Amino acid sequence: LAAFSGAATAAVSCDADSEKPSSGNGAGFSNSLRIPPILGPETGADGMKQFNLTMQAGGRTEFQPGKVADTWGINGAYLGPTLRVTRGDKVRMRVTNQIGETSTLHWHGIRLPAKMDGGPHQMIEPGATWTPEWTIDQPAMMGWYHPHLHERTAMHVYRGLAGLIIIDDDNKPDLPSEYGVDDVPLIIQDKNFEDDGKLDEDGVEDGTWGVLGDSILINGTFGAEFKVTTRTVRFRILNASNARVYRVGFADNRKFHVVGTDGGLLERPVEVDRVKLSPAERAQIVVRFAPGEQIVLNSVGETERSAGDPEEDDYDLMRLITAQDLADSPDLPSALGGVPATAPPAGARVRTFRLSGSEINDKEMDMNRIDEVVPAGAHEIWEVINTSYAHNFHIHEVDFRVMELNGHPPPEYQRGPKDTVFLPKGATARLSVKFNTYVDPVSPYMFHCHILRHEDKGMMGQYVVVEPGTENQVARTINAGS
Ligand code: C2O
Ligand code: CU
Ligand code: CU
Repeated sequence: LAAFSGAATAAVSCDADSEKPSSGNGAGFSNSLRIPPILGPETGADGMKQFNLTMQAGGRTEFQPGKVADTWGINGAYLGPTLRVTRGDKVRMRVTNQIGETSTLHWHGIRLPAKMDGGPHQMIEPGATWTPEWTIDQPAMMGWYHPHLHERTAMHVYRGLAGLIIIDDDNKPDLPSEYGVDDVPLIIQDKNFEDDGKLDEDGVEDGTWGVLGDSILINGTFGAEFKVTTRTVRFRILNASNARVYRVGFADNRKFHVVGTDGGLLERPVEVDRVKLSPAERAQIVVRFAPGEQIVLNSVGETERSAGDPEEDDYDLMRLITAQDLADSPDLPSALGGVPATAPPAGARVRTFRLSGSEINDKEMDMNRIDEVVPAGAHEIWEVINTSYAHNFHIHEVDFRVMELNGHPPPEYQRGPKDTVFLPKGATARLSVKFNTYVDPVSPYMFHCHILRHEDKGMMGQYVVVEPGTENQVARTINAGS
């Protein structure tokens, strides 16, 4: 039995009329924030850092005091450990599937050859072990791993299969960096619970949005409370929810700084009072605290979800209590060393993607169809036009920059390296996308909506990266090509 709560006391109080625990003062948030443990690798004779990961069913997790939920996890009952690696490391993941059904494990935001990507084609049968290897070759960032089985991703993630990957490199601006103390990951997920404390799976594989939960877990902690012991804290926030979009900030609307986006650090900190995160997006923020405070991390604002009128969608996420004596923290550096954006070359190829209800360019995902063929190293413009209700758009393997959102540059805090962009109803995004040089004309990478219900319904396509000049020789049908 895994109880993530430290001293488990009262559950989050839910107002009977409203379906969400949003009181604004964090009442009931008293379970110590769980910090995902860092998994130490084994170092093989070949110098590879090997991470042993077992996807397991049968977890029993006490999210709410005295109530047990059946959960899935990686090396544990719910969620998985944090993998910490350094640019230049050669890594080997040994992924064993013990969940009793086929799955995959995808390294979201990680740059690597398509065969190692863990997308829908790299299936791991029950009882089998899959062992991808690659060299970490990208700037410091936080990515994550999660299953990606076609039509089953939403359920596998909802039950608890997900974890973080943190990459370090030689660029070390003076930011808070003690893991779990002043450099704190926050994996935000919304869930529905049955009265007996079990995860309510109704709707996960149904309807327009799949599941929209009325309870929030942070790192698998229900009603989370975090004790701040330093003047400033860096939070690395991941929206690992199936469908919900958060506008993260503080109940007192204090300002804070964004220092990083999905794919790494910004060039300089950007002051904001909210960051919007759709499923799979990340933000690194640095927040300043005073001694003896009680503050609530929350999400407020309109959903931008449906075609109809916007609805308010307010949630308390976590309570923060600051110590009477706070340890000193570094001053926020004015330069962070993030990689500057480079504009696409004149005449860059433009590809257009129209998102509708559950299709991209009027097509549903077909595992046997290659949708796009990209020459290695290309720098292209991908224009994503949302013709319907809210979606987002994630491209495997790449860092991109959002050049324009509805004809304007995006908010400054979203101008860093990205792999996922949110498109409210009717929005258009122009992305500057630089592709890698891991050539493989047969194994595709995915691009898709990361609202997991939409992805499972087929809102996904496939691209391959090929030697420049060979685009026309590539088989568009995977079976024919192999
Ligand atoms: Cu989070 Cu296709 O990925
Ligand atoms: Cu991905
Ligand atoms: Cu979508």
